[in-house]
This record gives sequence, structure tokens and C-alpha cells, in this order.
Amino acid sequence: MSKPSILVARAIFPEVLQSLAQVFEVESNQADEVWSAAELIRRMQGKVGALTTGSERIDATLLQANAQLKIVANMAVGFNNFDVSAMTAAGVVATNTPDVLTETTADFGFALLMATARRVTESEHYLRAGLWKKWSYDMFAGAEVHGSTLGIIGMGRIGQGIARRAAHGFGMKVLYNNRSRLSAQLEADCKATYVSKQALLQTADHVMLVLPYSAESHHTIGAAELAQMKPTATLVNIARGGIVDDAALAQALAAHQIAAAGIDVFEGEPSVHPDLLKVPNVVLTPHIASATIQTRKAMAQLAADNLVAYLTRGQALTPLNTLPGTAA
Ligand code: 8YV
Repeated sequence: MSKPSILVARAIFPEVLQSLAQVFEVESNQADEVWSAAELIRRMQGKVGALTTGSERIDATLLQANAQLKIVANMAVGFNNFDVSAMTAAGVVATNTPDVLTETTADFGFALLMATARRVTESEHYLRAGLWKKWSYDMFAGAEVHGSTLGIIGMGRIGQGIARRAAHGFGMKVLYNNRSRLSAQLEADCKATYVSKQALLQTADHVMLVLPYSAESHHTIGAAELAQMKPTATLVNIARGGIVDDAALAQALAAHQIAAAGIDVFEGEPSVHPDLLKVPNVVLTPHIASATIQTRKAMAQLAADNLVAYLTRGQALTPLNTLPGTAA
């Protein structure tokens, strides 16, 4: 009996590809070519499953052109590249990779917070440019992290991981805003206090964005929100591009309306707003919050395991949707 065909849309760890090849006929992209939407549709032909990353869009047009498709497994916890309603309507299971990246991504949120508040990259550029000629009392003096107030917008698993690091490791006061309030138990574990978005922006010394992208969360931080923040405050975005209005942020940084920002995700990435590249008081990283070898392997493996579980046993491990007529 011939094996079912799947597409692995981006380069992944060879061992994960090999494990998939034992079960499936695999078309891969180990050259990591960037495919257009039309090319992705073409490559998807005849495939019952696909492994994607956050860069591949799965929408109604692709689904209509690939009626044979049964599952798309995203190697990411975020899934704003999926039109989940269209997938459900087309009878296609969507999966993501929750949990396996939580602590690693929370570590990186903290790394970016520290680098931003303590001006790590700005001072390194200064040193590399040969500008360091003498010590001075206020050279690259930054903002205090320990004992300060952290405001977290988006209090899912990663937000909670950051809150625990902040409260228990750095003695920070933690405020949070989220669509729904955490249980009393979780609030106590994270030592986090629920406040309005406005109160958070006005009070926090550091604001961290960890919420999923959606039409509702588009430009959660724009000119009006930046104006509410303290002039000494920092902003960190490890969530998704589009949650911050990058043009407004560049303006606020240039005008020292806020002290500094740390940004891992960008509107229209991998393009970066040119004005952000011009301001010194921003730490810029290329969407690497989950990037450790162990975590990326765990993400790839979970995406692969979802394909195997659904296509051989009819039950995905971490589904995002329930297909009509299959509810447990
Ligand atoms: C991924 C991410 O590296 O999981 C997510 O949502 O943003 C990152 O961990 C990226 O989306 C590639 O799939």
C-alpha cells in the first residue's frame, strides 16, 4: 500500500524529516526556498498533510485548490497564519505547538527586557565603533529591572512564565492585562495583579507584550498608548508583528517619549520599518524568542507527531479546531 503524501514546507531538522519519511511520502524544502502563495498551492497538490511555520499562509484559496488536504501542523504556538474557520469549513485539522516553547520564550522575553533596560546593544555598538575613550558616571545608565514594576499584556502560558521570573527572580511587582482574568491560584503563583490596560501603561516601568495577534489585537500599542507610558519606561514585544504600530514606536523612541524598546517581531517581517533602524534606543532581534536547538527540535517533533497521530490514528495531539461531526 502506498504511503500518504505530505509536504514539509520549510527546512527542518533532518532527523524529524527522516522519522516522517518512515510513515509518509515526503516532499520537503531543505533548501529553505521562500515560496509564493501560488507555489505553496502548487506544492500542496496531492498532499493530505503539511508541516508549516508561521510564514506560510493557509487560507480559503489554498484550501479550495487542495480539497484532498486533511491536516496542517504549524511549527509555532501562534497561528495567525491560519484561517482556522476556513480550515474547519474545509474539513482540515489545524494544530500548533503549545507548551514545548513556553519557558524558552519566557527566557528570551526576559533577555530582551534586560538588554533593553540596561542598554546592552546600544553600548556594544558604541564600543565596537571605537567610541569608548573613558569611563563616566552616567555612561549608558539604564533603567532598574529588579524591584521595578512590570506590566504584561497577554497572560497566557508565556506571559505567566515571564511573570514568575519577574516576581520570584527579580522581586518585581507584576501587573497584567488579559482578555480574561486568571484564577486566584494562578494570580498567586505569578504574584500578578490584574489591572486595566490604561492603568498598566501608566504605572509600569517596563511593558511586555505576549498576546496573540488577531484583528482585535492589531496595534494594541499605537501612538495613543505610547503617550500614556512613562518617559522612563521600556516596551518589549515578543508576541507578533502588528501588535505594535512600528512607525509610531519609532517616532516615540526618537522623541524620547519612552526610554527604549526591545522588539523581536515586526509588521511585515522580515522587513523592518526603516525608522526603527535609525533610532539607537531599540534592541532589534529577528524573531528568535523560541530559538534554542532543544526547543526548535521539540516544536518540529510535535508538529510531526501531530501529522502522524491524525493521519494514522485520526486524533491530533494539539488541535486548534474540532471538525463538524467529530466532537468527542
Ligand atoms: C516560531 C513563534 O519560531 O511559536 C511561535 O508562535 O512565533 C516562533 O516560536 C515562528 O512562528 C516560526 O514558526
